[in-house]
Amino acid sequence: MLGTLYGIGVGPGDPELLTLKAVKVLKQVAHVFAASSSNNDYSLAHHIVRDHLSPDTPLDQLAFPMTFNSERLEDAWQANCEKVVEILRQGKNVAFLTLGDPLTFSTFIYLMRKIKSRLPEVVVTVIPGVTSFQAAAACAGLPLGEGEEAITIISGAKGADRLKEVVSVADNVVLMKTYKQFPQILSQIRESGLEDRCCFVSRCGLEGEIVERDFERLSAMGQPHYLSLMIIKKRGIES
Ligand SMILES: C[S@@+](CC[C@H](N)C(=O)[O-])C[C@H]1O[C@@H](n2cnc3c(N)ncnc32)[C@H](O)[C@@H]1O
Repeated sequence: MLGTLYGIGVGPGDPELLTLKAVKVLKQVAHVFAASSSNNDYSLAHHIVRDHLSPDTPLDQLAFPMTFNSERLEDAWQANCEKVVEILRQGKNVAFLTLGDPLTFSTFIYLMRKIKSRLPEVVVTVIPGVTSFQAAAACAGLPLGEGEEAITIISGAKGADRLKEVVSVADNVVLMKTYKQFPQILSQIRESGLEDRCCFVSRCGLEGEIVERDFERLSAMGQPHYLSLMIIKKRGIES
């Protein structure tokens, strides 16, 4: 008998945004894993759930390199997949922690694919989590979508090179991963004439939270924290 693989969304940072279902499953699993693609992911995910884990439940980090090099990534996925497969083969239920939601820009997606290809009969259960952009919209008091509006969520990891294409069809855009290519992202926003229509949110629900609508201040800010995103509303930002 194989154990079940649970992908658990732990929310974007505030431990009170952890769902009751996530807590219930965390109390039952035999082994917990979390990604350490950045120290933030691992330590924050652990911090969010620590009050709900039994001291006897092992918590291991799986190292994923922060790179677009497909060969290095493939090797890391394979090695990490084997660690999880080993525990599942012992018939133990395993939880993989994800910041926000497990099926939204998450390492869980890759891990789940790999594990399913190694163990096609494995049962995978996903416990959804509050996403970072839902929490950011709440914290900034900005509607993400209303009426017939279209919302598009894209990654800014490569500098928001798809922003122009996306704003031509979407009313509201969420740009995730705005930390590394921040100057390029600001240039894309400027070139699209959206300077007064964006709201930057960093470390939402955590110490050091920033909500900034002023484009000049954003331009002077320097590289933001890894946990940062941008909400862009084509029709304008309400204050
Ligand atoms: C690998 S993605 C994870 C997304 C996550 N699965 C979700 O559902 O929101 C990491 C990105 O999520 C965003 N993020 C996660 N937590 C955040 C927070 N507390 N405040 C602002 N952005 C956050 C940032 O854009 C960060 O670069």
